[in-house]
Amino acid sequence: MSENKLTITAICGSLREGSFNRRVLKAMEELASKHWEIHHVDLSTIPLYNSDIESQGDPQSVVEFKESIRKADGVLIVTPEYNMGIPGVLKNALDWASRPSKSSVLIQKPFAIAGATPGSGGTAQSQAQVRQTLLAMNAYTMAGPKILIGSIHEKLNETTGELDDESTLRHLERFLTAFEEWILVFKQTQK
Ligand SMILES: Cc1cc2nc3c(=O)[nH]c(=O)nc-3n(C[C@H](O)[C@H](O)[C@H](O)COP(=O)(O)O)c2cc1C
Repeated sequence: MSENKLTITAICGSLREGSFNRRVLKAMEELASKHWEIHHVDLSTIPLYNSDIESQGDPQSVVEFKESIRKADGVLIVTPEYNMGIPGVLKNALDWASRPSKSSVLIQKPFAIAGATPGSGGTAQSQAQVRQTLLAMNAYTMAGPKILIGSIHEKLNETTGELDDESTLRHLERFLTAFEEWILVFKQTQK
């Protein structure tokens, strides 16, 4: 990995193969490719949180998930909204990562949240819940700019299915730059 690149762990809150949120993440990855080394985590391998399982030692997928967050300069979450809230798979993974609570890998970790939906609300309520969850876990979540993409299905290339709406891409660029600056604040204070 290039020494100057930031290490970013990327979490998609959807398990769906054709996920719109995964496409937004892909667009971000392409825009940030010169500055970021992105490590994707697969939430589908993380079991439901159960302290009986945890007390016997974290399952391998959880070990790898936590390690990916621990090593990252920042964590990017791109998530759908389910029933006006956070998708269960995402909340479950964050619950695992929040343990042990006094020394979890989430503490003081810079985060940024984004989301997309075919609906009009742009995942605002889901993102608010993710923010609240991360606050409880003592993570440092960037306040803004916010990425609330509504009508995502109308912003994709008809042939490739990739996000190609110019105004959305420019907004993503501003978001990515702001996240880099947010991460650097904490990198500098940790020196
Ligand atoms: C259980 C369920 C609940 C949903 N609730 C909402 C919702 O509250 N708000 C919203 O904007 N979209 C909602 N949707 C629609 C999702 O935004 C849509 O399925 C989206 O494509 C999911 O993201 P993905 O494409 O990244 O998988 C819901 C979808 C499901 C399956």
